Amino acid sequence: MTQPSTRLVIAVDGPAASGKGTLAAKLAAHFGLPHLDTGGLYRAVGKKTLAARGATQLTTDDAALAIEAASTLSPIDLAATDLAAEAIGQAASIVSAIPEVRAALFDYQRQFAAQPQGAVLDGRDIGTVICPDADIKLYITASPEVRAERRFKQQQAIDPNASYEAVLNDIRQRDARDMNRTTAPLKPAEDAKILNTSEMNIEQVLAAALSLITSKSI
Ligand code: C5P
Repeated sequence: MTQPSTRLVIAVDGPAASGKGTLAAKLAAHFGLPHLDTGGLYRAVGKKTLAARGATQLTTDDAALAIEAASTLSPIDLAATDLAAEAIGQAASIVSAIPEVRAALFDYQRQFAAQPQGAVLDGRDIGTVICPDADIKLYITASPEVRAERRFKQQQAIDPNASYEAVLNDIRQRDARDMNRTTAPLKPAEDAKILNTSEMNIEQVLAAALSLITSKSI
């Protein structure tokens, strides 16, 4: 672990299955900083809205339920064990387009980033909306096919019937929704460093990120 000499806030953004969560966790461990996976917040809202609706899919008519779920989100909701499921990722991507849902989660994320030593946050709008003054902004990306392949391999380990086509389709849908929404669309901050990880493994991604961070001389 390398203790930074000053307060350090690192924003890691990028599309689904880009590896940003793994990188953010490794950077947090490296610098001894707290880490927030903000996708988990939207996933918890998605799951809670699905439960309130008694359905396995959401529509845009479920906005009121989603806003209620976001406003009453509790640590118990965040501790749910099935948040990684694809259906919940899709629900998260639907509820996250609702401005009032984003607004309800804003203070929690800002307070997390305001901790005295700093923090690492990963998501879609950390560098653009949540922490526009972050010391380091990284935008992690990879082609949809490479991201689908990585996600497919993870799923196959649990479910032998997993389908690469279905995963790729899900990733394309989520990208389109996350990038084209009006509020806080997924895009690199103007001052973000873009890392395309299509041909890199996680060790190479971490090394590249650390070299970008140390070149900014913390
Ligand atoms: O990162 P993850 O795939 O867990 O995020 C699930 C969904 O939550 C994303 O597809 C995106 O729609 C939404 N999200 C967001 N803003 C964030 C983090 C996640 O809109 N900061």
